[in-house]
Amino acid sequence: MIITRRTLLQASAGGAAFSFLGLRAAYADLPKLAKKATYKVGFAQTESNNPWRLAQTASMKSEAEKRGCQLVYTDAASSAAKQVADVRSMIAQKVDIILLAPREEKPLIPAVFEAKKAGIPMLMIDRNVDPTQAHAGVDYVAFIGSDFVKEGNMAAEVLTKAMGGNAKIIELQGSIGASPANDRKKGFADYIKDHPGMQIIASQSGDFARDTGRKVFETLYQAHPEATALYSHNDEMTMGALSVLDAAGKKAGTDIIIASIDGTKDACQAIADGKVLVVVECNPKFGPAAFDAVFKYGNGETLPVSLVNTDRVFTKDNVAAYLPEAF
Ligand code: AHR
Repeated sequence: MIITRRTLLQASAGGAAFSFLGLRAAYADLPKLAKKATYKVGFAQTESNNPWRLAQTASMKSEAEKRGCQLVYTDAASSAAKQVADVRSMIAQKVDIILLAPREEKPLIPAVFEAKKAGIPMLMIDRNVDPTQAHAGVDYVAFIGSDFVKEGNMAAEVLTKAMGGNAKIIELQGSIGASPANDRKKGFADYIKDHPGMQIIASQSGDFARDTGRKVFETLYQAHPEATALYSHNDEMTMGALSVLDAAGKKAGTDIIIASIDGTKDACQAIADGKVLVVVECNPKFGPAAFDAVFKYGNGETLPVSLVNTDRVFTKDNVAAYLPEAF
């Protein structure tokens, strides 16, 4: 049987597992990376407006330096269109490989195909592109990051247990169209569908940003003063919501029980202070894993199409031990 890209897409669309043979055949179609002592690596960052992004960039820069690689770094400043242009500029600069943290799932698809056409391999770092349009092992080499569905699931489990299965929940979603926003929403919803007392009464995007999260939560909480819980897709929006609760004279941790995701210093300190129930980790320190993958690929090794981080769950029982390494 001759396995083509079309065969793989059909298998994927039908939900069938890729065969080893199929993966190898498709892999052969990907741009190669010549073995070198050091590489010119493009890193296309999404934005730099929160501690998670800053920690990710610092990790990538420090690992590039450690390995003697030249890093071509761009910051898309929260614009998917700019990020596509950033990738195009990396292609023009003839980088050896591109590490892309795609801001949103769909708008970055052209950048993936253009890099492939230019013969430049690409690794997806932390976020992913639309899996129905571009495939790891076929259109780009591999995805390295967290299982966002599982993160949402874990947040829901801890919240559901703490609330005895009953809560009126405000959900602050991440950036519209971003894979962590889509998947964290899905993971949480999947868990609570078996707990009819857990109801999402309002859900809106706070764009993963502290100030937008603050404004959106303020509006939603005013409209829904009966809310008893907050599920926030990241810690920055949680910090925004905490400032709203403070200003309204409400007690976070008593009046509203909060589940969040990331593991920032601020949010983890809020667990220690009794204001936040749980933070599910999303580790931003991608440098070592990303550059390991670059060098392995350059050595001609076949990478797994998906390298998934193991995320921890922080509550009042274990947060003190984590706080010194929080970002
Ligand atoms: O893609 C990871 C998410 O993006 C993090 O949760 C968030 O803080 C960041 O902006």
